Amino acid sequence: MTERAPLCRGTEIAEGEARGFAPWPGARKQVIVLRRGGRLFGWLDSCPHYQGGTPMAWKRDGYLNAARTRLICFSHGAEFDPETGECTLGPCLGKRLRAMPVIEDTDGMVRLTDGSGETPETRTRSEGS
Ligand code: FES
Repeated sequence: MTERAPLCRGTEIAEGEARGFAPWPGARKQVIVLRRGGRLFGWLDSCPHYQGGTPMAWKRDGYLNAARTRLICFSHGAEFDPETGECTLGPCLGKRLRAMPVIEDTDGMVRLTDGSGETPETRTRSEGS
Protein backbone atom coordinates (compact mmCIF):
# COMPACT_ATOMS: atom_id res chain seq x y z
CA MET A 1 0.00 0.00 0.00
CA THR A 2 1.29 3.43 -0.92
CA GLU A 3 1.16 5.89 1.93
CA ARG A 4 -0.77 9.08 1.28
CA ALA A 5 -0.61 12.35 3.17
CA PRO A 6 -3.21 12.31 5.95
CA LEU A 7 -6.56 13.97 5.42
CA CYS A 8 -7.04 14.59 9.14
CA ARG A 9 -6.82 12.98 12.55
CA GLY A 10 -9.43 10.31 13.17
CA THR A 11 -10.57 12.22 16.25
CA GLU A 12 -11.69 15.07 13.98
CA ILE A 13 -14.56 12.95 12.62
CA ALA A 14 -17.01 12.05 15.36
CA GLU A 15 -19.55 9.25 15.04
CA GLY A 16 -22.32 10.34 12.67
CA GLU A 17 -20.37 13.29 11.26
CA ALA A 18 -19.22 13.95 7.69
CA ARG A 19 -16.47 16.34 6.65
CA GLY A 20 -14.83 17.34 3.40
CA PHE A 21 -11.11 17.41 2.72
CA ALA A 22 -8.91 18.31 -0.21
CA PRO A 23 -7.08 15.05 -0.96
CA TRP A 24 -3.95 16.90 -2.05
CA PRO A 25 -2.95 20.52 -2.73
CA GLY A 26 -4.75 21.92 -5.76
CA ALA A 27 -7.28 19.07 -5.99
CA ARG A 28 -10.36 20.02 -7.98
CA LYS A 29 -12.72 17.97 -5.83
CA GLN A 30 -12.96 17.16 -2.17
CA VAL A 31 -13.26 13.82 -0.47
CA ILE A 32 -16.14 13.35 1.96
CA VAL A 33 -15.15 11.31 4.99
CA LEU A 34 -17.80 10.14 7.42
CA ARG A 35 -17.91 7.88 10.43
CA ARG A 36 -20.82 5.54 10.89
CA GLY A 37 -21.04 2.54 13.22
CA GLY A 38 -17.43 3.22 14.13
CA ARG A 39 -16.30 2.72 10.53
CA LEU A 40 -14.94 5.34 8.16
CA PHE A 41 -16.30 5.79 4.64
CA GLY A 42 -14.88 7.99 1.89
CA TRP A 43 -16.69 9.36 -1.16
CA LEU A 44 -15.76 11.79 -3.88
CA ASP A 45 -17.68 15.04 -3.40
CA SER A 46 -19.15 14.84 -6.87
CA CYS A 47 -22.86 14.28 -7.43
CA PRO A 48 -23.52 11.81 -10.27
CA HIS A 49 -26.66 13.68 -11.36
CA TYR A 50 -24.68 15.55 -14.01
CA GLN A 51 -21.71 14.34 -16.00
CA GLY A 52 -18.59 15.85 -14.50
CA GLY A 53 -20.11 15.93 -11.04
CA THR A 54 -21.29 18.77 -8.85
CA PRO A 55 -20.01 19.56 -5.35
CA MET A 56 -22.73 18.42 -2.96
CA ALA A 57 -22.51 20.56 0.19
CA TRP A 58 -24.41 23.82 0.64
CA LYS A 59 -21.88 25.00 3.21
CA ARG A 60 -18.56 23.73 4.55
CA ASP A 61 -19.06 20.11 5.64
CA GLY A 62 -22.82 20.38 5.00
CA TYR A 63 -23.17 16.88 3.54
CA LEU A 64 -25.85 15.26 5.70
CA ASN A 65 -29.62 15.56 5.76
CA ALA A 66 -31.34 16.93 8.87
CA ALA A 67 -31.78 13.43 10.33
CA ARG A 68 -28.06 12.75 9.63
CA THR A 69 -28.98 9.46 8.00
CA ARG A 70 -28.12 10.24 4.36
CA LEU A 71 -25.59 12.17 2.37
CA ILE A 72 -27.41 14.79 0.36
CA CYS A 73 -26.68 16.87 -2.69
CA PHE A 74 -28.13 20.27 -2.07
CA SER A 75 -28.37 21.20 -5.75
CA HIS A 76 -31.48 19.09 -6.43
CA GLY A 77 -31.92 17.06 -3.24
CA ALA A 78 -30.50 13.67 -4.21
CA GLU A 79 -29.91 11.45 -1.19
CA PHE A 80 -27.23 8.78 -0.91
CA ASP A 81 -26.70 5.84 1.41
CA PRO A 82 -23.63 6.82 3.46
CA GLU A 83 -22.27 3.26 3.47
CA THR A 84 -22.85 2.20 -0.15
CA GLY A 85 -22.91 5.56 -1.93
CA GLU A 86 -26.08 4.49 -3.75
CA CYS A 87 -28.60 7.18 -4.61
CA THR A 88 -31.79 6.36 -2.67
CA LEU A 89 -33.90 9.39 -3.56
CA GLY A 90 -33.84 12.09 -6.20
CA PRO A 91 -32.86 12.60 -9.81
CA CYS A 92 -29.95 10.14 -9.96
CA LEU A 93 -31.58 6.92 -8.73
CA GLY A 94 -29.52 3.96 -9.90
CA LYS A 95 -26.26 5.87 -9.74
CA ARG A 96 -23.79 6.03 -6.90
CA LEU A 97 -21.02 8.15 -5.50
CA ARG A 98 -17.45 7.26 -6.38
CA ALA A 99 -15.76 5.43 -3.51
CA MET A 100 -12.59 6.94 -2.11
CA PRO A 101 -11.52 4.29 0.40
CA VAL A 102 -9.96 5.61 3.58
CA ILE A 103 -8.29 4.05 6.59
CA GLU A 104 -7.44 5.21 10.06
CA ASP A 105 -3.82 4.17 10.50
CA THR A 106 -2.07 3.06 13.64
CA ASP A 107 -1.12 6.67 14.38
CA GLY A 108 -4.79 7.65 14.29
CA MET A 109 -4.47 9.52 11.00
CA VAL A 110 -7.10 9.22 8.24
CA ARG A 111 -5.60 8.49 4.82
CA LEU A 112 -6.79 7.54 1.37
CA THR A 113 -5.79 4.01 0.48
CA ASP A 114 -4.72 2.47 -2.80
CA GLY A 115 -7.83 1.79 -4.84
CA SER A 116 -9.01 5.31 -4.21
CA GLY A 117 -9.04 6.13 -7.89
CA GLU A 118 -7.26 9.30 -8.88
CA THR A 119 -4.14 9.86 -6.83
CA PRO A 120 -1.56 12.61 -6.82
CA GLU A 121 0.61 10.38 -8.99
CA THR A 122 -2.07 9.68 -11.62
CA ARG A 123 -3.12 13.33 -11.60
CA THR A 124 0.44 14.38 -12.39
CA ARG A 125 0.71 11.85 -15.21
CA SER A 126 -2.62 12.85 -16.77
CA GLU A 127 -1.56 16.50 -16.77
CA GLY A 128 1.65 15.59 -18.57
CA SER A 129 3.94 16.80 -15.82
S1 FES B 1 -26.50 18.00 -9.08
FE1 FES B 1 -26.80 16.72 -7.34
S2 FES B 1 -28.92 16.32 -7.35
FE2 FES B 1 -28.60 17.52 -9.11
